[in-house]
Parts: sequence; C-alpha cells; structure tokens
Amino acid sequence: MQTASSLSVLIRQLRLESAGVLSVELERDDGAALPAYEAGAHVDVHLPGAGTRSYSLVGAPGAFATYHLGIKCEADGRGGSRWFHESARVGDRLEISPPKNDFRLAEEAPHSVFIAGGIGITPLLSMIGRLASLGRSWELHFAARDRRSMPFEAHLEQHAATGSGRVVKHFSAEGQGRPDIQAIVGSAAADAHLYCCGPTGMIDAFVEAARHRSPDTVHYERFASAEAPATEGGFTLQLARDGRCFDVPPGKSILDVLLEAGVDVPYSCMQGVCGSCRLSVIEGQPDHRDGYLSDNERAANDALIPCCSGSLSPRLVVDL
Ligand code: FES
Repeated sequence: MQTASSLSVLIRQLRLESAGVLSVELERDDGAALPAYEAGAHVDVHLPGAGTRSYSLVGAPGAFATYHLGIKCEADGRGGSRWFHESARVGDRLEISPPKNDFRLAEEAPHSVFIAGGIGITPLLSMIGRLASLGRSWELHFAARDRRSMPFEAHLEQHAATGSGRVVKHFSAEGQGRPDIQAIVGSAAADAHLYCCGPTGMIDAFVEAARHRSPDTVHYERFASAEAPATEGGFTLQLARDGRCFDVPPGKSILDVLLEAGVDVPYSCMQGVCGSCRLSVIEGQPDHRDGYLSDNERAANDALIPCCSGSLSPRLVVDL
C-alpha cells in the first residue's frame, strides 16, 4: 500500500540480533536520505499480505541513510513478525510511513531511568543513544531470560562506554532474578524521568510503583492494552460527516464495523497501543479500553481508540 506520504524502502540487511530477534536495516530505494527522527520514534511498515505493523527505530536519532528495526518472532502474533522472520529477503521493497513519535524523551532531565523487558528495549534504545551522545546521565535495568536472548547488547555496551550511563542486566535463567521495580522507582530522584517498556506485568508493576510521582516524569509503552477489548456491542455508531449509522453488534469492535463498511480508517496494531486508529468523538461516552490515551485524554471524552474501545452511551458520534 502506497500513500502520498509513504516512503519506498528496500531491505538492505537482515541479521540475527539475538535468539528470536531479527535486526532489519532499511534504505530508500532511490538512494535519498531518510527523514530524521526523534528518540522514541517508530515507523508503520506495510507488509505484503500481513497488514501494517509499527516498529521502533532503534538507531540513535539523526538524519541517516538507513533505518534499523528490531523484530522479535511472535509465533502467536498476527503474522507481521513471522513475515520478517520467514519470508523477508534482502532487496525486498516495502512501503513505510514517515517516523512518528508518541513516546518522547525528556532529554533535559538531570537523570533518566529505563526499565526494559526483552524486546521492550527497542523504543528505549534510541533514547539511550541520544542521552549518551549528549553526555546526559542514565541507567538501564534490562530483564531477559538469558544473555542469548538479550537483543542489542553490543549497542548498549557502546552507549555505556561513553561514561554517561550504566546497564544493569537481570538474566532470570542465570539466577539473577527480576528487577526490583519498586526499589528502582522508589530510589529515583523526584526530578528524574522514568521509562518502561516490556511485558504487561512489568508495566503494571512500574505504573503501580510510580503512582505517587509527578505524571510528567513517568513514561511507558505497552505492547498490548491492559484491559480486554470492548466487544459487548449494543450501541449505534454515527459518522458525523455523512450521517451514516451502524449498529455495533456483540463480538465486534468499532474498527471491525467501520472496515467492513468500507470506511477508510488508518490502523496498525489492532491492540489499542499504537494510536494509529484514534478518532475524535463528537457526542457520546466512550468505553475506553486502550493502552494509548492518557488519563487526561480519557477524561476529556473527546477521543476514542476504535480497535478496542466501545461505548457506554447508546449512541456514539465520531468525526468521520
Ligand atoms: S490500531 Fe493501534 S491503537 Fe488501534
């Protein structure tokens, strides 16, 4: 799928980064420079026959000839990672979005604390690279099963070698246990900024440990929403621009109903975490189940993530 803003790229290199994780290098097919991006950014990748998936850019930010992605093979996933691991070849052409960023680095912070689990390191890598290049203080607590399954260890060691930060590794299969998230968060200075990305249980523990901190200093990115999707149905969805109405039945999400009706809505993760499908709400009360909107955005009642959220009111009017 090519859109006016998409970039046509070629797979320049595929390399096994660690057990089950592929490092993918992309370059423009016309040899031009790729757009610069900020730490924490991702791109949406349109995959042949597997829809669109979002992947973090793992290189340190800046203008580059290539983008690097880190992709873990998810055997039970929706097929995007399997396409890369089983079908992708060097030289394959792909369409990607320009870089987007919903997970920003507060690079002016006096100290930054990162907590990562497994492939959750990918959005944090560019942040750590940026801080290392600026000489700003950081620490990373990285949990993985064992050293073989720790992706991008060499990159992290390079960043630590600048002297700006340190990496604390926790290999559960080697008897080092898991990071004590309560203790890590509890010992962070009030003006430090804290970041977490990893499995749901890790992020839940992080959010709980950080609940007394200023929300501005707490940042996390989920791979899946902590809440079950709203598929109870039983309400009417109305499109404000042309007035069309759709009954949302039990078992379907709002996004399912829109796509089946041929309404053009962007989407990517289908799990309530990337924000690609975000809609503006004109009228009604959304039943928020996503892991993307902030508490303030939920309270404002004017936005909806239709791949997983529903409606508490009998009618929901969206800006489509
Ligand atoms: S498609 Fe990712 S949040 Fe809906």
